[in-house]
Amino acid sequence: MPRLIGIKKKRIAIFISGNGSNLKNLIFYSLKKKSKFKIELVISNKVKAKGLSYAKKFKIKKKVINYNNLQNAEKKILNELKKNKIELICLAGFMKILSKQFIKRFNGKIINIHPSLLPKYKGLNTHQRAIDNNEKYSGCTVHFVNENLDCGKIIMQKTIRIFKNDNSKKLAKRILKQEHLLYPKALKKVISSL
Ligand code: GRF
Repeated sequence: MPRLIGIKKKRIAIFISGNGSNLKNLIFYSLKKKSKFKIELVISNKVKAKGLSYAKKFKIKKKVINYNNLQNAEKKILNELKKNKIELICLAGFMKILSKQFIKRFNGKIINIHPSLLPKYKGLNTHQRAIDNNEKYSGCTVHFVNENLDCGKIIMQKTIRIFKNDNSKKLAKRILKQEHLLYPKALKKVISSL
């Protein structure tokens, strides 16, 4: 079996604001022998984000960024990305909107996971809106980030059925499970196209 020694893994930063279950899941994937990426940095805008504990546990560098001033916050983030030679950014439950200038600097190198079948239900509260509209299906989408919220090119999607007795909590739980399968697959696809 040829070994992966010598193959340069993509240096990735993950941005979070909360639970970090997608972060945790991507950490597991990054530790697999055949993984083509390494998580070098975790950025959070919240000091209390649970996801930061995974960075700590797996000894990944983490930075909490004070977002009182957007320009300063993004300047600090860009500095960290440069220092850590980050090649690709994965947003995973990051609740801040990146500025146009920031996105331009990392054009085509920022991806996000969103809990709906984009272009339907951009923004927040996706599950309740899908249920209220009597949708039969929902799901999750991994997409590139551009200057319009949740509008970038779609990389991959997974569709699931909405059941009659679903509420937003139940649906969110089932979709999150699918997110954990979809994000690593989509990331692999992006890396192989870089
Ligand atoms: C996920 O549902 C993701 O699609 C959305 O925010 C949630 C983050 O969950 N953008 P977690 O913090 O990864 O558990």
